[in-house]
Amino acid sequence: MGIERSMVDPLRVSRKDFVRMGGLGVAAVVLGVEASADRAFADPRFSSNPFTLGVASGDPIPDGFVLWTRLLTAEGEMPNRQVQVRWKVATEENMKTVVRRGEAVTGPDQGYSVHVDVRGLKTDRDYFYTFRVGDYVSPVGRTRTTPGFGASPAALAFAFVSCQDYQNGYYEAYGAMAEYEQDLDFVVHLGDYIYEYGPSPEAVPGREHNGPEIKTLADYRKRHALYKGDEDMREAHRLFPFIVTFDDHEVDNNYADEIPEDDQGRRAFLRRRAAAYKAYYENMPLRRSSLPQGPDMRLYRRFSYGDLAQFSVLDTRQYRTDQPCGDGIKERCAAALSERQTMTGPAQERWLKEGLGGSRALWNVTAQQTMLAEYDFIAGPPEQFNMDQWDGYVAARNRLIGFLDKAGISNPITITGDIHSSWVHDLKTDFSRPESKTVGTEFVGTSITSEFPGEFLAPVEAALVDNPHTKYFDGSYRGYVRCDVDRQQWTTIFKGVPTEPANGSVPPQAEPEAPATTMATFVVENGQPGAVQEGPTTVGARYEGKPAPFDPAKIN
Ligand SMILES: [Fe+2]
Repeated sequence: MGIERSMVDPLRVSRKDFVRMGGLGVAAVVLGVEASADRAFADPRFSSNPFTLGVASGDPIPDGFVLWTRLLTAEGEMPNRQVQVRWKVATEENMKTVVRRGEAVTGPDQGYSVHVDVRGLKTDRDYFYTFRVGDYVSPVGRTRTTPGFGASPAALAFAFVSCQDYQNGYYEAYGAMAEYEQDLDFVVHLGDYIYEYGPSPEAVPGREHNGPEIKTLADYRKRHALYKGDEDMREAHRLFPFIVTFDDHEVDNNYADEIPEDDQGRRAFLRRRAAAYKAYYENMPLRRSSLPQGPDMRLYRRFSYGDLAQFSVLDTRQYRTDQPCGDGIKERCAAALSERQTMTGPAQERWLKEGLGGSRALWNVTAQQTMLAEYDFIAGPPEQFNMDQWDGYVAARNRLIGFLDKAGISNPITITGDIHSSWVHDLKTDFSRPESKTVGTEFVGTSITSEFPGEFLAPVEAALVDNPHTKYFDGSYRGYVRCDVDRQQWTTIFKGVPTEPANGSVPPQAEPEAPATTMATFVVENGQPGAVQEGPTTVGARYEGKPAPFDPAKIN
């Protein structure tokens, strides 16, 4: 309502003030100043299109969603002031039938980001949206509300993704998803949306990081802008609502709560974490309840899809205790078994159990970062585990799986990122006893681009015999995971895309009609925990390089 505002504000100069100020001459000056300030606010000038980072939507609920954009011109020049951004929501892509509209104000303090929490819409349907600022109109985004809380939807289709190191490759996985999976209700991002590292000499052409390891707010903002520069990812954001959570690289590799990877002091690291969280919020379609307060940010939250599925989205970085026994893959020391080890912190753990315990959903999904199931990475004795995963937090895992079992949670499913490879695990009450009860199923999705070093494939595969609860492993493919959920079964389809051979693995041949290959399909029947493979496995061509010392801690 920019025009109205610029016309209304000068009227605040009352007749009495007008006279007191000495009549027309003074009033005209006041009016002139106010009018031009308002015009700049409502009708700002940009050197070029400020919608270079695209549009996004997220955190869908039955009557709404969050709409997002962040203004930045290609030249990076922005008016150093607050600006007014208009938005509208329509029922058709042509934007003719507008059902909601409004204005948002943004400026340098918010990195020119816009978050609109749209409410009052109809359940379970597509909506379209645009932003407008000055003379520029954004691309038309598409999004979708979820079914109502009392609804019994027949089916849900979603995808999950993680780990998109810009330097490791192009976002073909997003391109394929945007082109071939248009029926998805939403996409879940499980973290490592950006990577904090400096430029790598091995970066694929045109994908070098913009500057050294990032630490300040300006650094994190610039890095997010670099990542959003990818056209395929922008297209995925434009088409699907995203439910996002972070892992470590949005801040610093393998950090745990207040403890950084390197020996940065606690106060300096908390300043860095605050900068990273602020930039993360600014760049994600998150609701205001996730707005960071200094170094703290409430990111764990819950979504439901009628009574078909409930999603508990976890944050396993901000509240976790330090990796025990030191980071890396190793034999467990006593600390890994300590009851004090936590991934979630006590408050989130309570929240998780309460949400699961009170759920009436058929499928109960925990969307989180690192592998929940045990995996002994080295064939033969002694057993060696990755301390950054739940394997370093054994008591916390036992509490969670024990709860799923004892509380009789309906169809527990865990979806996981972090490790740049695809896995299916049975979740056992006791991983050391293969005959123990299977309580749920974990699907671990490969990365969008981040590398799984080719030389690690053989040792991880060789260790499969020591991990009978693991039904599937593939580290050759980058891609995404599609899940089709109905009232009889859950189907997980691992999708692989051709990637740059920079990571040492040879790209698979894509199907001629689609840029994504089905690598494997697994099904969980309602009421029968544990996944069963359906159809064949596509095996990627393998790296034949020199064997290297095996250190899965390098996979992050
Ligand atoms: Fe990662």
